[in-house]
Amino acid sequence: MGALKPPAEDVMIHAEGLTVGYGERPVLKDVTFTVHAGEIVTVLGGSGCGKSTLLKALIGLIRPLRGSVRIRGACITGSDREAALESIRRHIGVLFQYGALLGSLSIADNVALPLEEFTDLPRSLIADLVHFKLDTVGLADYAHFMPAELSGGMRKRAALARAMALDPEILFCDEPSAGLDPITAAELDELLLECNRALGITMVVITHELASIEAIATRCIMLDKSAQGIIAVGRPEDLKNHSADPRVRAFFHRQPSLMRPEAASVAPEG
Ligand SMILES: Nc1ncnc2c1ncn2[C@@H]1O[C@H](COP(=O)(O)OP(=O)(O)OP(=O)(O)O)[C@@H](O)[C@H]1O
Ligand SMILES: [Mg+2]
Repeated sequence: MGALKPPAEDVMIHAEGLTVGYGERPVLKDVTFTVHAGEIVTVLGGSGCGKSTLLKALIGLIRPLRGSVRIRGACITGSDREAALESIRRHIGVLFQYGALLGSLSIADNVALPLEEFTDLPRSLIADLVHFKLDTVGLADYAHFMPAELSGGMRKRAALARAMALDPEILFCDEPSAGLDPITAAELDELLLECNRALGITMVVITHELASIEAIATRCIMLDKSAQGIIAVGRPEDLKNHSADPRVRAFFHRQPSLMRPEAASVAPEG
């Protein structure tokens, strides 16, 4: 196998020197980080800094220009890429930023899809599992609704039920609460926390929502467009209260003025 040293037991994701982009143009350069079992790691950063691009590289949808990604110890960027991806596919769930559900299928059929694709379970058992998953996200009474007949928040919850259909060990969510009102967004956060605590699911959640970050994040990884990489890693409260980086403070305190040169020269608190 690869020459890299084997990851520690509880390492679920390890990205090493990752450079990702489109064509020859890198969006992120030399990104290295680790996600441990049971963590909820949020990925933050302004629009266009490469959050979704990073997520696509982590799940093998795009191939990095350089560097490696290991998921549960399997290197999905090396020569055994296809086999490694095959071995992890059942163990990861993904909630995409846009249009996660198939519009031509009912909510129940959407949730059944991964079960039909990856298991040999009989239809009746799949139906029971689908019911259970929809119940978990509060949509048991909407099984036969089409995606277009649901509200935005309900669609997100249905997409979460589908992402969770195979009881993944790792869940990737790209801006799960974007476009939702604050209460619905908070309910979705609660749901993610429940899945994390009750089922021990490790999560990587892309979000700009400060309230969400403070509610769910074990740690944050902050990306920056000009830096083309990670500018901070830490617990949200530490980044908010103790970061010396004006870009980090500006984000956590919602104060763009902190990024002006005169603010940068002011000694940070703490
Ligand atoms: N399929 C693609 N082909 C070429 N360039 C792309 C593609 N997808 C994204 N990009 C470019 O990569 C950069 C990062 O995009 P990305 O979608 O990762 O940003 P993001 O941080 O997720 O932004 P947002 O918060 O708006 O979702 C942008 O400059 C974007 O134009
Ligand atoms: Mg995005």
